[in-house]
Amino acid sequence: MNLNDSVVVVTGGAKGIGYAICEMLAQAGAKIAMVDRDEAQLEQSASNLSALTEVQGYAVDITDEGLVEDTFQYILEDFKQVNVVINNAGVLQDGLLLKLREGKLIDKMSLQQFNAVMAVNVQGSFLCGREGALAMIASQQTGLIINMSSLARHGNVGQTNYAASKAAVASMTVGWAKELARHQIRAVAIAPGVIDTEMTRRMPEKAMANIQAAIPCQRLGQASEIAQTVKFVIENDYINGRIIEVDGGLTF
Ligand SMILES: NC(=O)c1ccc[n+]([C@@H]2O[C@H](COP(=O)([O-])OP(=O)(O)OC[C@H]3O[C@@H](n4cnc5c(N)ncnc54)[C@H](O)[C@@H]3O)[C@@H](O)[C@H]2O)c1
Repeated sequence: MNLNDSVVVVTGGAKGIGYAICEMLAQAGAKIAMVDRDEAQLEQSASNLSALTEVQGYAVDITDEGLVEDTFQYILEDFKQVNVVINNAGVLQDGLLLKLREGKLIDKMSLQQFNAVMAVNVQGSFLCGREGALAMIASQQTGLIINMSSLARHGNVGQTNYAASKAAVASMTVGWAKELARHQIRAVAIAPGVIDTEMTRRMPEKAMANIQAAIPCQRLGQASEIAQTVKFVIENDYINGRIIEVDGGLTF
């Protein structure tokens, strides 16, 4: 797909990996619909990119079905077409399944903690993927959905909720590639390892030091390295139904 003048919707686009994606695609000539629930950051980030391209921010919580449906209608009205949806918005709420001290239960992952992560990472991606595909079909455009999975999808200590959500996202990708092919829509997932963003800066210092030592590349990834992968996937029309790993060689 040619990026020039294509319309790309990026969820969680206001900061971190999402913003790096918006910036790189804007530099390549794409028009950007930036979706994020952080209104102040959204305004700032959209304004930063407005010198580069046509950009519009939409302050939306992607877990809300009605809001997501309305947002894709507004995007169609504003841009007249949708070519790419990048399901990037995601959250972490790590914790052990069970935490015991001397045989006594002192904490456990709450249902709220489990569901909060599933709501954004799975339900949000499902809703934006569904409405995005509908908008691509309505505007008679060939399309692409990119879902942000994670290396954690293989299963990781302290990440029951997050790992399960990222496995679900990977699985939806494969299904959508098969289901949406008749509409000339591709679906691809990217599975980053550990990337230097606010999300990972919140992790305990000791845990981060251990992770960094285990990465064969000996450093965290940069958000721009994920953005570069997104650009490559958009431009190469033969990549479909696959999970692309960008993790510096780290395995769990
Ligand atoms: N940083 C990493 O190491 C890493 C590794 C693997 C995968 N990922 C995935 O990459 C994606 C981006 O991660 P990041 O590190 O840039 O995160 P981040 O926390 O820096 O940014 C996430 C963005 O998503 C937005 N967001 C969160 N919930 C939302 C909601 N309900 N509705 C709308 N917007 C919402 C936030 O406001 C924020 O702007 C996530 O899906 C994450 O799981 C990150």
